[in-house]
Amino acid sequence: MTTKPKFIAPANFTIVNHPLVLHKLTLMRDKNTPTTVFRQLLREISLLLGYEVSRDLPMTTQHIETPVGPMEAPIIKGKKLVIVSVLRAGNGLLEGMLDLIPSARVGHIGLYRDPVTLQPVEYYMKVPADISERRTIVVDPMLATGNSVAAAVRRLKEKGAKEIRLVTLLSAPEGITRFHQEHPDVPIYTAALDSHLNEHGYIVPGLGDAGDRMFGTK
Ligand code: URA
Repeated sequence: MTTKPKFIAPANFTIVNHPLVLHKLTLMRDKNTPTTVFRQLLREISLLLGYEVSRDLPMTTQHIETPVGPMEAPIIKGKKLVIVSVLRAGNGLLEGMLDLIPSARVGHIGLYRDPVTLQPVEYYMKVPADISERRTIVVDPMLATGNSVAAAVRRLKEKGAKEIRLVTLLSAPEGITRFHQEHPDVPIYTAALDSHLNEHGYIVPGLGDAGDRMFGTK
């Protein structure tokens, strides 16, 4: 009998296991949850994930006058943010992130899996020209095989992105390992670490196809 090697999560892998996140995620996993509710829950969870991924943004102070008097008030310092959505499911996380950080710029990257080579092929990419001067948050709900998001981050690095973080909803051990083989410098923030991938590359227990559940395409 062979035993599966124990998965040891890397140090820069964070599970945001807040009760609100876990509760909403359970509702999302339920196959009877309708599309509109699924989308709303994803938007709500992305606020909570966004809160965590932005927790250590560097701060400075700014002199302001409140109606009562002067104050040196805290304000986010320096580099601005870009949020890059990996199409199409990334758009579900993007909405909530933008609610939280409305001044962030937005990029999109689209990849499909070549049916013969099974490798990701880029079909669309548009990111801010000054991406190298911004912190980059990549959003993709399902870290399954990790191949597409690893390719997306590779392309962003080629465009000059430096301080990159990845936000996912669910992560599989296989995807984390694959992604961090190529991008050990990119911290991952996720709501849950699931068991494994099935033979079709779906996360188990997962929630099914995030794009289909979000957009009602199945
Ligand atoms: N993509 C999905 O949408 N779901 C999975 O389980 C894996 C990849």
